[in-house]
Amino acid sequence: MRTLIADHPLIDHKLTLLRDASTPTPQFAALVDELVTLLAYEATRGIATDPVEVQTPITTARGVRLARPRPMVVPILRAGLGMLDGLRRLLPQAEVGFLGMVRDEESLVAHTYADRLPADLTGRQVFLLDPMLATGGTLVAAINLLLERGARDVTVICLLAAPEGLHRLQDAFADRDLRVTCVCAGLDAKLNDKGYIVPGLGDAGDRLYGVV
Ligand code: URA
Repeated sequence: MRTLIADHPLIDHKLTLLRDASTPTPQFAALVDELVTLLAYEATRGIATDPVEVQTPITTARGVRLARPRPMVVPILRAGLGMLDGLRRLLPQAEVGFLGMVRDEESLVAHTYADRLPADLTGRQVFLLDPMLATGGTLVAAINLLLERGARDVTVICLLAAPEGLHRLQDAFADRDLRVTCVCAGLDAKLNDKGYIVPGLGDAGDRLYGVV
């Protein structure tokens, strides 16, 4: 698995505002949107293209266009939904599928409650959106589901990762033939005993949607 932790002062600035408990919901949602657009630039570096030729007003020029099948964006409900517009701004051609996953707060085991994805993802590049890579249980289950359906490569975009979750993903997808990439805005210190990222930003879904 390839891991990329963003290293950019603008991303650090926005992430700091996101962490601040006094940042209100509308500003939190706007910051998530902006951060995802910035991360999407790196996350789409390996996106597949085909060569094309276009007619300019002067002559012909060689260029590229996004390859078919179209890439797929999959937000993991609920918090991943807050990241969808930020990615679609850069990649409006992508199709969107939805995956509802919730982790049991006692066992921290992920359970799928909604699956609105094509049964066949053969050859598809998939961008999986989940703001918090905590224990990694949800993302390992989601990536396995996508690979089982034939996805060609999977790029996870998250805002914050804990080392525990990142290691779990790295162990699960160590095979060099599996094209799994994780792009994060920041890597935090650890998880607490409730599975929250420390220092983190709290519950991303609650902060996005205003639930206390
Ligand atoms: N999910 C969250 O929303 N926050 C965490 O810190 C961990 C998981």
